[in-house]
Amino acid sequence: MSQDNKPRLRSAEWFGTADKNGFMYRSWMKNQGLPDHEFHGKPVIGICNTYSELTPCNAHFRELAEHVKRGIWEAGGLPVEFPVFSNGESNLRPTAMLTRNLASMDVEEAIRGNPIDGVVLMAGCDKTTPALLMGAASCDVPALVVSGGPMLNGKHKGKDIGSGTIVWQLSEEVKSGRISMDEFMAAEAGMSRSAGTCNTMGTASTMACMAESLGVSLPHNAAIPAVDARRQVMAHLSGNRIVDMVNEGLCLSKVLTRGAFENAIRTNAAIGGSTNAVIHLKAIAGRIGVPLEMDDWTRIGRDTPTIVDLQPSGRFLMEEFYYAGGLPAVLRRLGEASLLPHPDALTVNGRTLWENVCDAPLYNEDVIRPLDNPLVADGGICIVRGNLAPNGAVLKPSAATAELMTHRGRAVVFENLEDYKARINDPDLDVTAEDVLVLKHCGPRGYPGMAEVGNMGLPAKLLAEGVKDMVRISDARMSGTAYGTVVLHVSPEAGAGGPLAAVRNGDWIELDCKAGRLHLEVNDDDIASRLADTQPREASRLLASTGGYRGLYINHVLQADEGCDFDFLRGCRGSDVPRHSH
Ligand code: FES
Ligand code: MG
Repeated sequence: MSQDNKPRLRSAEWFGTADKNGFMYRSWMKNQGLPDHEFHGKPVIGICNTYSELTPCNAHFRELAEHVKRGIWEAGGLPVEFPVFSNGESNLRPTAMLTRNLASMDVEEAIRGNPIDGVVLMAGCDKTTPALLMGAASCDVPALVVSGGPMLNGKHKGKDIGSGTIVWQLSEEVKSGRISMDEFMAAEAGMSRSAGTCNTMGTASTMACMAESLGVSLPHNAAIPAVDARRQVMAHLSGNRIVDMVNEGLCLSKVLTRGAFENAIRTNAAIGGSTNAVIHLKAIAGRIGVPLEMDDWTRIGRDTPTIVDLQPSGRFLMEEFYYAGGLPAVLRRLGEASLLPHPDALTVNGRTLWENVCDAPLYNEDVIRPLDNPLVADGGICIVRGNLAPNGAVLKPSAATAELMTHRGRAVVFENLEDYKARINDPDLDVTAEDVLVLKHCGPRGYPGMAEVGNMGLPAKLLAEGVKDMVRISDARMSGTAYGTVVLHVSPEAGAGGPLAAVRNGDWIELDCKAGRLHLEVNDDDIASRLADTQPREASRLLASTGGYRGLYINHVLQADEGCDFDFLRGCRGSDVPRHSH
């Protein structure tokens, strides 16, 4: 602490001395037109920007960053914008998840190695939010999230269509012959017609809601549309606020407490949020040192009604969600029913979560429904375990068919994604609607990167018969915009020697979501001998031997129940200023 009770600035270790080092650190910065007084003790605020034209959901971030800068200047800080690896969900192959940890390393090292006192995390597209929070949490500096905001509602043939969700729907309709290819293609331009992230309650909107419920963004950050001027106002106010946070020494660890994560888990159930949140929250918690287990999702999320009626679980889109009152209205509704586990959790604006939302208005009860008339009565992410998933697997009840959540069926097995693609539409495929589709080798190591392929499309011949849903099981993830009775994140994965690798065509599988059970009706000895016959590790080992980032990933990625972080990245390494560079 300095004499005026403000924490000593990290940036003073660069800019605060009248010697050779200070000269060097300041002089080069002055080539940007900064006068000398900018280096006299102002908080230096990093704007960590995931802008990229290859991440279309974040392509408006240069402009949005200008509003953050205005707020920082106005509050007496010095803004310094820097780019980090941008995980664009729509373009990156084999999956943006492969590089989430890479981006988090980029963020962590950029913050710690530079003269930064606090940081605004500009995130939007799915993986960018966890990547930035993971990196910043490992430094534990003052930080807040400014999300990019969702796109306006998609439009097609005079109707609203939702990002991602409409693609899954229409592609099944093409396969079943109900619509033409021309109509399918016509929807393309209307789906993404403004700046912003997916407008469904997919992973991007879910993670923006997670940030808001964790208390690491200002209220309303999650839902204001990307192109609404109020998004720019919020960016401006966030710029104001981060300067105060530095002066107050309000670091992430004071906000990202165990209580905050419990609030977020409950919120995820209420919004019908993405299954990807299970992985990302675990990874963020691991960085800040908060214990979080798979069973916390059952303990805290269970029996929480899903009251936000948004696609893919329900009807509406993020525009309606914002106009209905946004996340503050949901949190108020939860709090009034004593369903917020920790209303007193501190948020980045210095107030508690409850203080932020206790007066929040709610304008539309079709979109944010009453607790006694929910979309789904028990909306919490369902965790299942058993001999097929010893470390757990997940299912999203709000996006599933209730009758199928208790089901016993015969396995129809696909060894990998290519095998699935080659055979799923074969008219001779031996499959009925009562069977269970099983997809292997799509986990963190096996794919690699745990792609969003778990909501595998149904066989064409069953779609033509009008079948709408089937039980599907895999070690993959699914897009937050997807739906179906889909068991995901089976852990350990097939590619790490998990029992999923042992399933064979015709085996019987029992799913019982109420009892939290996923059982393969094969005895332990047979499972063990089948696993000994398969060599799931071989493929991973070969891939690892190709080296590069993929090799690092396969060798160090943790399983889904551990958040898919790298083993060596867990934990908070703080923000101590490194040695001089010269
Ligand atoms: Fe970027 Fe959905 S693809 S938010
Ligand atoms: Mg996605």
